[in-house]
Amino acid sequence: MLLLGDGDVLTQSAASTWLFRRDIEIEAASMFHSMAEAMRRFSWPSALADAARQAARDEIHHATLCETLVLSLDPEHTVHEMPDMRKLVFENEDALLYTAVSVGCVTESMSAALLLRMRETTTHSDCKKVVRQVLQDEIGHSRIGWEALRYCSANRSVRWLYEALPTMCQSARAEHIEEIGFSGDLSTYGILTAPEAKAILDQTELEVILPGMRSLIDDNCDERQSLQ
Ligand SMILES: [Fe+2]
Ligand SMILES: [Fe+2]
Repeated sequence: MLLLGDGDVLTQSAASTWLFRRDIEIEAASMFHSMAEAMRRFSWPSALADAARQAARDEIHHATLCETLVLSLDPEHTVHEMPDMRKLVFENEDALLYTAVSVGCVTESMSAALLLRMRETTTHSDCKKVVRQVLQDEIGHSRIGWEALRYCSANRSVRWLYEALPTMCQSARAEHIEEIGFSGDLSTYGILTAPEAKAILDQTELEVILPGMRSLIDDNCDERQSLQ
């Protein structure tokens, strides 16, 4: 009988987590691709639609990087097929804004904060390369959410987003924590422990997402009122 050493267990667990991430990248690609189409349909600034389309391409690239990493960590790993992209239909501009904020301002900001920490802890060279590449793109992806919010809040009140924010944060947190399925120390492979990830997500929500939304939503609202 073949017994696995501690190192094998660690690399297999790391490979499983990176495979889970691959599927999340495809989900993100679906979101950005659908958003890009809707942004064009609702005549939002073409720079925003172009950025969303590029983000969809980046996410597919991230998925490929994750898959390659899985096999480099554990060449015997069972890799299921890449999921198909989903197509989302947005019935109106508020539905589109909701998703842009949820994906860009919330999920991508949280992802960038986690990746910043992962960049410090990762020592495995292949993992480090993937973390660096993904981090570089995720920061740009979060800007799509902030720019969409800036554009919409300049024209009308979007205060309803405050009510939606707890649900957005909750589902983004669940996604980021769910991927951490192993309780051991995988920091060298670019995987944070659940308590550390939770602390970073709390901090990002309080110090980045909430103040960012307040400044765009409230400042633009005050400006509109002063013009009336
Ligand atoms: Fe990504
Ligand atoms: Fe992204």
